[in-house]
Amino acid sequence: MPRSLPQKMLAGRAQPKRRSGPQRLAVAILAAGQGTRLKSKHPKVLHQIAGRPLLEYVIEAARSVVPATDVYVIIGHEAERVRAAVESSGVQFVRQQPQRGTGHALMAAREALERYDHVLVLSGDVPLIRPETIARVRDFHLARRAAMTILTAEPSDPTGYGRVVRRGRSDAVQAIVEQKALTPKQRNLREINSGIYGFATRPLLAHIGRLTTDNAHHELYLTDMAALLAKAKETVVALQAEDSGEVLGVNTRAELARLDALLRQRKCAQLMAAGVTVYRPETCTLDAAVTVGADTVLEPFVQLLGATRVGSDCRIRSYSVISDSEIGDGVEVRPGSVIEGSRLEAGAVIGPYAHLRPGSEIGEGAHVGNFVETKKARLGKGSKANHLTYLGDAEIGAGVNVGAGTITCNYDGVAKHKTVIEDGAFIGSDTTLVAPVKVGRGSYIGAGSTITDDVPADALAIARTRQVVKEGWAARKRQERSGTRK
Ligand code: UD1
Ligand code: CA
Repeated sequence: MPRSLPQKMLAGRAQPKRRSGPQRLAVAILAAGQGTRLKSKHPKVLHQIAGRPLLEYVIEAARSVVPATDVYVIIGHEAERVRAAVESSGVQFVRQQPQRGTGHALMAAREALERYDHVLVLSGDVPLIRPETIARVRDFHLARRAAMTILTAEPSDPTGYGRVVRRGRSDAVQAIVEQKALTPKQRNLREINSGIYGFATRPLLAHIGRLTTDNAHHELYLTDMAALLAKAKETVVALQAEDSGEVLGVNTRAELARLDALLRQRKCAQLMAAGVTVYRPETCTLDAAVTVGADTVLEPFVQLLGATRVGSDCRIRSYSVISDSEIGDGVEVRPGSVIEGSRLEAGAVIGPYAHLRPGSEIGEGAHVGNFVETKKARLGKGSKANHLTYLGDAEIGAGVNVGAGTITCNYDGVAKHKTVIEDGAFIGSDTTLVAPVKVGRGSYIGAGSTITDDVPADALAIARTRQVVKEGWAARKRQERSGTRK
């Protein structure tokens, strides 16, 4: 249960002097909840939009306002998973165990917060908040010398959010009322609580012990601080966000999908503004970190994921899925190709239906065609593997022609081995290259060969049985058959 505080000593109007000069400012991010409404075994704040966990967006926004060491992420449900996912950002963590509500979450951070004059509270499930808006809350909060500043909004549908009850037309707030506790009259209130606040830590910590669990969820609601502080004659004010889209929260899968779509739409709009053609942008799935150069064309139903970087003058055709890859200028990726963790140099042509697995490096102007799979394979400048081929653990030089149906046999059941094909070699169709093996510069391999030994430069290797021709055999066979039928 919440710690009970010596209220008489701390509360009331006889306040100690607020520090003048720079105010010590912390950001607390509430991220301890389970996210019951997502019906998920994963913690809510690690669910992703535009390819990144919700919490990462909030941490990034927080870090633009204060140093990471002044950002306190409050974790509880699946705390270690959440910590591990965002630890590299350098933020601090506070445990809330068990989770008894948003008010209880700040109580858990009391020790940390005592060292600051003010705390900005963000929600781990309100990811689109912009640094400018957080700064606006801070500035307004400090200028008004408020005990509590509430960032509000008027979205088209306020259902589900807490509503802000103002004192008349002023910006003074009387209370925040949660959806379930709204009186019929209050249901008309359109102004919602974003879950983003500024607090002066002294009045916050002085009064937070007075929160009660007298509500629908039997939790300690941070929202109740508005009425508590207002009743104690502290300044509680509302500041409206310029764009209500920024404070949308994620409680359900539908809201997750909506925010994901919104971010991806924004991403496409940014790229188009920077000179990229995106046909049917509503069908494309582009992660936040993706970059694309000018005059590249993205056809409908393209996915560019993770840390993918696409150069300029490329054409990425429909149904291609490219993740964590680097694509040079003027590359064409034909329909239905899957490219993962690979690097393609300028002018390469991939697909249709090619699969480049991690560690593939496709050289300048090289071609990888229909139903070709590569893995940890380097294909030199101008080399071609156009049809039905598997190239794994292979180092292939420049100007090499890999015939249809060529297979590198890189796995002996225990270990992987390397195939080396030097510049200008010609690998006949349906060749199997049993690694480790090397084909020398400028050599030819006869079609249908199974190559088990190294081939020197400029040689011809044929490794198949010699053809036998039996003259007239088929005609004799036909004659025999018609004879027996009579
Ligand atoms: C909250 C507000 C509501 C506001 C809405 C905005 C309360 C009681 N209500 O409702 O007025 O309109 O946000 O999005 O605060 N959390 C903890 N510890 C807990 C419980 C929650 O850290 O014990 C975290 C959650 O992980 C989440 C955030 O606090 O990131 C908000 O909690 P949530 O349960 O989603 O609150 P809402 O019902 O959305
Ligand atoms: Ca929420």
